[in-house]
Amino acid sequence: MKKYTFIGPITQVVSMDSIPLKGALKDEEIPILKNAGILIEDQHIYAIGNYDEIKKIANTVNAEIVELQSDYVCLPGLIDAHTHICFSGSRANDYAMRNSGKSYLEIAKTGGGIWDTVTKTRATSQEKLSHSVVKRANHLLKNGITTVEVKTGYGLSTEEELKMLRAIKHANLNSESDLIATCLAAHMLPKDYKGDHTAYLKEMTTTLLPTLKTEKLCNRIDAFVEQSAFSKEQIEPYLFIAKEMGFDITVHADQFTTGGSEIAIKVNAISADHLEASTDIEIKKLAASNVIAIALPGASIGLGCDFTPARKILDAGGALAIASDWNPGSAPMGDLLTQAAILGTFQKLSNAEILAGITTRAAAALRLEDRGKLAPKMLADFCLFSTHHFNELLYHQGKLTPSQVWKRGKVVSTK
Ligand code: NIG
Ligand code: FE
Repeated sequence: MKKYTFIGPITQVVSMDSIPLKGALKDEEIPILKNAGILIEDQHIYAIGNYDEIKKIANTVNAEIVELQSDYVCLPGLIDAHTHICFSGSRANDYAMRNSGKSYLEIAKTGGGIWDTVTKTRATSQEKLSHSVVKRANHLLKNGITTVEVKTGYGLSTEEELKMLRAIKHANLNSESDLIATCLAAHMLPKDYKGDHTAYLKEMTTTLLPTLKTEKLCNRIDAFVEQSAFSKEQIEPYLFIAKEMGFDITVHADQFTTGGSEIAIKVNAISADHLEASTDIEIKKLAASNVIAIALPGASIGLGCDFTPARKILDAGGALAIASDWNPGSAPMGDLLTQAAILGTFQKLSNAEILAGITTRAAAALRLEDRGKLAPKMLADFCLFSTHHFNELLYHQGKLTPSQVWKRGKVVSTK
């Protein structure tokens, strides 16, 4: 038997319906439903619109009525399309060293950086890792994030990468959010690997990638194209093979030096993430492509470096999503709404562009067509903020957190 729930009246529903994937947006373009109601059928939205109109439908299907007594603004469940929340240990030392003048790449060379987290993650059991992912996903859920992409990349051997992916799969079963796994075996050449970059990637292609398919562990492959990781020439064949095997591709691109976005475009990746170092040339090419740019303001804040040129990307006609990059090294904060709001102040983004970047455009970056906007047949993933106007959300820079979070038609977090 189907279960119907009707919720309202909601002062403003920011539906994000019919927002184009690419290009600049004005706040006048934000689709707002005033004095609205949402009728849920099991996990999905059945009808949404004027409170009185939808209530009539709700009565015909005997819906349970959740009547709201004060002002609320409703957003689609937020989507964090780039995180590394499967890890062990802290890199507070790296953070202190960076603030004392050492660069991210220098620290990586002297044994800190990603390798430090690899050592600690390898020393952690799959069960413990899984538990830590659930804990972090729950933290995000309280802040309205109902879908989280989670990367590997701290295992860096076939067995250890599989351990991470199995931990993420298990965490997905044990958390209310949807966790979308991505294999980042190409995060760096592991220091204990007896061979060069090409040999390592070849090994991953033959030993790891087929198992991802057979065990249904993930459909997405990521690679870090950077001086400290893999060159364009090294990564290209790996990504083409992964693509031929049917994986979606995403690239850590142009973080410190350019090159990654070129590869992302060449392999027709779904997204190119970071882009802090992209120049006008890369921006123009990205905007003309199908690749979604993902800005990661948490990494700029964590490293104290430039923000992704989000304004220029949008003005050039590109698609821009915004994600937290939550990881122990470059982005330890893990607070998407705060970071997106701060990116907005520095890059002069409209509220429409920021909100699209963490909802509908983030859904596109994960190729998820059933979420990121509030409309019939979409998942009933949304959050309610106790305020009267959507402008308040970014104005409070993430400090206004949701009063209620709904995931697949159920309340999963309240405050
Ligand atoms: O997206 N840039 C590469 N990877 C991560 C950082 C990972 C780490 O430092 O542990 C990032 O910033
Ligand atoms: Fe990252």
